[in-house]
Amino acid sequence: MTIRRIGSWQISISRCLLPPGQLASRYDVIAADWERTAMRYQLEKAYQQPLFASGAPDSLENISGERHVLDCGVGSGSLSIALQKLLAERVNWYGIDTSSEMLSAAEAVTRRAGLTIILKQANVLSIPYADESFDMVMAAHVLEHLPQPERGLEEMVRVLKPGGRLFICMTRPSLFGVLIQMRWRTWAVTEAQGLTWLRGCQLSDIGLCRMNLGWLAGSGSTAFWAKRPT
Ligand SMILES: C[S@@+](CC[C@H](N)C(=O)[O-])C[C@H]1O[C@@H](n2cnc3c(N)ncnc32)[C@H](O)[C@@H]1O
Repeated sequence: MTIRRIGSWQISISRCLLPPGQLASRYDVIAADWERTAMRYQLEKAYQQPLFASGAPDSLENISGERHVLDCGVGSGSLSIALQKLLAERVNWYGIDTSSEMLSAAEAVTRRAGLTIILKQANVLSIPYADESFDMVMAAHVLEHLPQPERGLEEMVRVLKPGGRLFICMTRPSLFGVLIQMRWRTWAVTEAQGLTWLRGCQLSDIGLCRMNLGWLAGSGSTAFWAKRPT
């Protein structure tokens, strides 16, 4: 909230984010078209470049035995599909989303892409898995929907194993960011703010890069990655 005092007057301006139920309903309505949106912004391709730069594919492949990856706010599964395409071996995929229709879209799209994914309707603020369950936890364009994105981040870190990788993408301040903010009442997150949140979670090996979302959105998002110290 921004507060300004002018003489005996106090003016305050605060953001009105969409309440969780309303947000889920809005995503339910557009779920059937989300795959087309993902293609328009070339999301899979856009996610692959920072995923590769983060070193996540190599670190997953260096794990012996079962590997478990959670995609928070899975949408129609673009981020999971992008990562699978960078891996030589299969991993165990998990996805959560607050929108039931998005989960149906994820089921269909990931099946067509050859992924088997365990899907649950759940909020990233309350992930229905035990502490230290996953080798990698990721979220693309989800945390900016939260009133306090750092709370979602903390919850993602809770379910991450020590040594596990975190990967997040968030809309950044730009013309694209403003359009998304107006339509979805999201945050546009600066790189400095994202880094502050990651450092607040005591993560190491933090990195970031701007993402290319195609000619429609340019470099409208930033990808951040980090490791949970062992
Ligand atoms: C912009 S879409 C991104 C979908 C997908 N990650 C992608 O990159 O294509 C945001 C997704 O996050 C979901 N979502 C929003 N808030 C959420 C929350 N608090 N917990 C879990 N999912 C959420 C929405 O339902 C939607 O599917």
